[in-house]
Amino acid sequence: MANQDFLNEISKRRTFAIISHPDAGKTTITEKVLLFGRALQTAGTVKGKKSGQHAKSDWMEMEKERGISVTTSVMQFPYNDHLVNLLDTPGHEDFSEDTYRTLTAVDSCLMVIDAAKGVEDRTRKLMEVTRLRDTPIITFMNKLDRDIRDPLELLDEVETELDILCAPITWPIGSGKRFKGVYHLYRDETVLYQSGQGHTIQEVRTIKGLNNSELDEAVGSELADTLRDELELVRGASNDFDKELFLEGQLTPVFFGTALGNFGVDHMLDGLVEWAPEPLGRETESGTVDSKDEKFSGFVFKIQANMDPKHRDRIAFCRIVSGKYEKGMKMRNSRLGKDVRISDALTFLAGDRSLLEEAYAGDIIGLHNHGTIRIGDTFTSGDNYRFSGIPNFAPELFKRIRLKDPLKQKQLLKGLIQLSEEGAVQVFRPLANNDLIVGAVGVLQFDVVVARLKAEYNVEALYEHINVSTARWVYSDNEKKLDEFRRKGEQNLALDGGDNLTYIAPTMVNLQLAQERYPDIQFTNTREN
Ligand code: G4P
Repeated sequence: MANQDFLNEISKRRTFAIISHPDAGKTTITEKVLLFGRALQTAGTVKGKKSGQHAKSDWMEMEKERGISVTTSVMQFPYNDHLVNLLDTPGHEDFSEDTYRTLTAVDSCLMVIDAAKGVEDRTRKLMEVTRLRDTPIITFMNKLDRDIRDPLELLDEVETELDILCAPITWPIGSGKRFKGVYHLYRDETVLYQSGQGHTIQEVRTIKGLNNSELDEAVGSELADTLRDELELVRGASNDFDKELFLEGQLTPVFFGTALGNFGVDHMLDGLVEWAPEPLGRETESGTVDSKDEKFSGFVFKIQANMDPKHRDRIAFCRIVSGKYEKGMKMRNSRLGKDVRISDALTFLAGDRSLLEEAYAGDIIGLHNHGTIRIGDTFTSGDNYRFSGIPNFAPELFKRIRLKDPLKQKQLLKGLIQLSEEGAVQVFRPLANNDLIVGAVGVLQFDVVVARLKAEYNVEALYEHINVSTARWVYSDNEKKLDEFRRKGEQNLALDGGDNLTYIAPTMVNLQLAQERYPDIQFTNTREN
């Protein structure tokens, strides 16, 4: 039996990510969440794009120039006797692969919606991803200090477009210049909004009960009556909060507020720590590992270089699935079957790195990577199983990469292979010639690769067009057929960064023909390590 302190440590953890369309307010809400977690003294350290300052999680020069976050970082903070891990997902559409893998490392998501706009494209796509694991979703309708759309219509749109039931937890009173606050349906109280207090944790005034005359005085009887009417409608037409449905990913509690005004964010956080699941187990090829199993295990979902220019190293982000990390412990990389002693794992308290003494299931630790760790790797305390479900995706965009200085071929290859191990890009080496082909899921990855090759490997490279439209990893149980395929199809075959055989197709029709011609060969568009 695991001891009670250990179980308590795990039970108090919540690990989540924010999903939203660009500009809906993810950065702003992150800042306020950290303010509540006392991780920032005053909000303002994490700033918006136009102000020229940037969120602590934005690190690369290129990101700053473009005002987008291409990396994932992790922030841990205490809230209401809980310990919350917030994983930042890259906001840009290009980085769907990275985002996908980050979402495998969380147990719940916060969906932020711009209430003036409603459900937008990127949110739709991200929700599809969370669906794959039925991740519980909490919703925050943001920007209530602006004129928003009819709240009932917003809920309806979420329900029909995202196929998830909505259970409003708070309800707005007015919006824009007439935004007065929210009524909390389950606490039966109105929380009044004061504008201009967004950078602080505010003293709020609350009014108990809906039929309290203080409410009419505070918000005006017109808005108070509208609220009462709307609530009658809401209670009839929408769903009550149901924790089971929430945990199954079928129902989302909805909160209204303004991240900029730091209003309503705490209601959402209260809901998160109360309802969101404590650290969940994960699947291996041979069964589930429970988070409360005392033996340590974890998987790597992200590798990132140069997070801080002062520390020029590569960090592998490992989600602890079970047990506890202790400084100096031995871990096994089960892909390599090798044990390593780890005494310098990192944690990321609001963007500052600090050395970690211990960490528990649900936490993310940063492992220094000197080129041996790959995305999808499993670490255990001596077992040889591997976690499943952390895939690489077949790229959709391809370019041939070439050196400006031909003498640096070795560095180029080394750089590309390391970048492919990080999941920053994929590299393919055709069997039939000496080309190097870079494959990406999003266009921005190409620029990142050239910038990093120059900065980290001192290699200047450029791209050329290449006639490739898709790639598939190929396998077969039938060695003979695979050999035959390798011989006959050599012109279209390549090895990826991990030496896996890949079919490189100039057109989709070509791929289709190859699939028909070689029925014993499996062509897959995802690959797990
Ligand atoms: P993102 O990370 O999801 O892309 O969104 P971000 O937080 O950067 O917010 C996008 C813009 O929306 C920012 O304005 C931000 O200040 C604003 N915003 C966020 N929450 C609210 C809110 O509750 N109310 C209002 N009115 N605005 C909000 P910006 O002009 O792009 O940046 P900045 O000039 O404010 O720095």
